[in-house]
Amino acid sequence: RQARRITRPVVLVGLMGVGKTSIGRRLASALDRDFIDADEEIERAADRTVAEIFEAHGEAYFRDGERRVIARLMEEGHGVIATGGGAFVDPETRALVIENGLAIWLDCDIDTLVERTSRKNTRPLLKTGDPRAILRDLKEQRSPAYAQAQIHVVTGDGPHEVAVERIIEELA
Ligand code: S3P
Repeated sequence: RQARRITRPVVLVGLMGVGKTSIGRRLASALDRDFIDADEEIERAADRTVAEIFEAHGEAYFRDGERRVIARLMEEGHGVIATGGGAFVDPETRALVIENGLAIWLDCDIDTLVERTSRKNTRPLLKTGDPRAILRDLKEQRSPAYAQAQIHVVTGDGPHEVAVERIIEELA
């Protein structure tokens, strides 16, 4: 099924481990658009990893830089943008994304998030305690913000191709 031509950047939001980067890459290729990952852009701009930025300057500083990078990526008009899990929770970043892009909330169950984030635990927010408890709390706290995305897609624990198909149906 063909997706209608989308002119605004498609912005993937949702918790760590839901698959924003992998799904985003595949979605971009299915839509024949470019893909860019906001966390990777932040690391490039700062010449440090996200974990290093958190450690050196704290979360508030990271959120400011994240907002600036996402504003730039929106302006540059990329096809598909993956954001870090906290980006859309920041009210200013959220407003910017909703006004200039098409936000898609990727959502799945906690077991899947725990499984996927445990494969490569580079997330500073999951290092401060039990990842499952932290993810559960974040899901509860952040869902009202994520729910403001224009589109909500529940991805499940299946292959990313299935999630891409579902997004494309939503975009049609
Ligand atoms: C964060 C998610 C991470 C990264 C940072 C903070 C969050 O991105 O931006 O560790 O607040 O949920 P991913 O969602 O890509 O893991």
